Amino acid sequence: VLVRMLAAPLNPADINTIQGVYPAKPPLPAVPGNEGVGEILSVGSDVKNLRPGDRVIPKEASAWGTWRSHAVSDAQRLSKIPKEIGIVEAATMSVNPSTAYRMLKDFVQLSAGDTVIQNGANSAAGQNVIQLCNVWGLISVNIVRDRPNIDELKIFLKNLGATHILTEQELSKTDIFKSKAVSKAKLALNCVGGKSAVEVLRQLDHKGVMVTYGGMSREPVTLPTSALIFKDISARGFWMHL
Ligand SMILES: NC(=O)c1ccc[n+]([C@@H]2O[C@H](COP(=O)([O-])OP(=O)(O)OC[C@H]3O[C@@H](n4cnc5c(N)ncnc54)[C@H](OP(=O)(O)O)[C@@H]3O)[C@@H](O)[C@H]2O)c1
Repeated sequence: VLVRMLAAPLNPADINTIQGVYPAKPPLPAVPGNEGVGEILSVGSDVKNLRPGDRVIPKEASAWGTWRSHAVSDAQRLSKIPKEIGIVEAATMSVNPSTAYRMLKDFVQLSAGDTVIQNGANSAAGQNVIQLCNVWGLISVNIVRDRPNIDELKIFLKNLGATHILTEQELSKTDIFKSKAVSKAKLALNCVGGKSAVEVLRQLDHKGVMVTYGGMSREPVTLPTSALIFKDISARGFWMHL
């Protein structure tokens, strides 16, 4: 089929792939871009499941780079998606929403009222975590970096459904956990590393799990000895294979 690309995001993994620091190392020359949405322009005579005008997304990240205007693809490597889904949503539905869903489902059994804490909460992945927590009745504690327009960002995340939003500095001073206004987290999601990871890990309950899925600060994840010995904290990793 001949596809015209309509939109494709720039995800951190795309940049890391171009830098050569990501496990996926496509043979060169290669076109970057793991996800995106396109429109079918024409189909071969054997193609029965797709028609010109259909919207499609690649089934796997390695299908072909999405940062291109057109592609010729095997029809089997594409999923048809409804046109009611907006172009931006369609272009970004494979990586971050699925990541947020799997991380909230696969590591800890969570019930309504449980607490999840995450750093990088304003990232695309973090925004999906916020919305799923909201739908499932989970308390989300969302850590972001400070910035001049922090109040605007807090309102934006609140409107997405965030329960609490704290800057990294506010987290180190907050008494929401000590005062028991918020119960300690069962799950911590870390896409930053370094000091930020340690600070979210400190808010885990006994036997809590911290899932690391990104390393935006490029600093290593350090685990406090006491958290391992006295709280039996686990540190896990997550990678979405498309
Ligand atoms: N493991 C997986 O399968 C998987 C899947 C999806 C995403 N990810 C990872 O999830 C992370 C977020 O991805 P995304 O697409 O949601 O990214 P995004 O929308 O581009 O957001 C990037 C986030 O990283 C923060 N950030 C950037 N540089 C930072 C630094 N030096 N220190 C602390 N925070 C920093 C940004 O905060 P500011 O606004 O303060 O700059 C923002 O919150 C990335 O690490 C990505 O690789 C992993």
